[in-house]
Amino acid sequence: MKTTVAKILMALVAVLVLAAPQAVQAKELTGDLEIFSWWAGDEGPALQALIDIYKKQNPKVDVINATVTGGSGVNAKAVLKTRMLGGEPPDSFQVHSGQELIGTWVKADRMEDLTPLFNEQGWMDVFPKGLIKLIGTDKGIWSVPVNVHRSNVLWYIPANLKKWGVEVPKTWDEFFAIAPKLKAAGVTPLALAQNWTANHLWESVALASLGADNWDALWAGKLKFDSPEGVKAWELFGKVLEYTNSDATSLSWQQATDMVIDGRAAFNIMGDWAAGYMTTTKKLVPGQGYGWEASPDTEGEFLFLADSFGLPKGSPHRDNALTWLKLLGSKEGSDTFNPLKGSISARTDSDLSKYNDYLQSAAADFGKDRVVGSLAHGVAANETFMGGFASVMEMFLKTRNPMAAGKACAQLAKKSGI
Ligand code: GAL
Repeated sequence: MKTTVAKILMALVAVLVLAAPQAVQAKELTGDLEIFSWWAGDEGPALQALIDIYKKQNPKVDVINATVTGGSGVNAKAVLKTRMLGGEPPDSFQVHSGQELIGTWVKADRMEDLTPLFNEQGWMDVFPKGLIKLIGTDKGIWSVPVNVHRSNVLWYIPANLKKWGVEVPKTWDEFFAIAPKLKAAGVTPLALAQNWTANHLWESVALASLGADNWDALWAGKLKFDSPEGVKAWELFGKVLEYTNSDATSLSWQQATDMVIDGRAAFNIMGDWAAGYMTTTKKLVPGQGYGWEASPDTEGEFLFLADSFGLPKGSPHRDNALTWLKLLGSKEGSDTFNPLKGSISARTDSDLSKYNDYLQSAAADFGKDRVVGSLAHGVAANETFMGGFASVMEMFLKTRNPMAAGKACAQLAKKSGI
């Protein structure tokens, strides 16, 4: 009799123990989730679609969508720095894969290791090895990538080019051949916006001038910025600037894209969030309403960047943040976010039927092109370098002195450990 009771008791304990993890899992999340990013206004719809899924799955969580306007995070990054250093981190924040994450926040020991999450979700087999390398160190994995964007894209409106009788330039020489004709017709050959977009343009021009091997050598510290090759890139950049609008510094990247859409400018070199803007906000059809080409002299090269979100140490609502990160890395989350954002999925198993013609062509290029890392969007250099580079750019826009810019970059590289 005694043994039967003991057996029943043991069985009960076993049932309770087995049920325990499920009970923990099923526990409904409550409280806040503060997500910090620069995806405000026109950049917001893709993020909002993710928040909508999160809200459906976790109705009792109050999602605070904390955004600071300003393309490429020009303002958001400064606010984030103040908050992180002041001990007030958001629950999760946007950060570029690569040196912006590793050389800045991981180096300062401000992030939580997400290796357990990657293992639990099977993400080690789903994200490309090269990308995992960019978000990892020998001590851990530090963020969840949400997309892959391309930086070196030339955008145009096919009907406008037809009207002006010009072809899409494949090389800078071809661009310089048609630019005077456009200028004479009162059309800005290449639309430019505030200073970070000059950094953005610079990287496409520098890649064209240097080629992919030398581009990589620059960031590996094997080619000097003040070498003849380094200075030549600034020379070409100066020449390209001659054909941009003089009111650039007062415009947002969307306003520069509008110049192309409205026919005030012929081309724009911008990341493919411009495709997201033209498709999602402006309702233009890719391939018909707008066209694209690799920026001049970079055919076969994919200047890449990946947005990601991390978990800062001291995240006030850690469980809510981990559930957010799970959604970001999931197939459903990724294939909902990216078609709206104008980026391709960072996962290798995405459902391409959900992606428009532009994005399908970007996915094909990403699969076959030589992939190199973006400077303007956090892959190649840390925030110390980027802060200094902004000043070098400001100086160059005023003085147009390639040698001085090359020398200043060389000093900066030394200072920031390149
Ligand atoms: C980039 C970011 C993109 C897009 C762009 C313009 O740095 O990676 O997702 O937001 O800035 O703001």
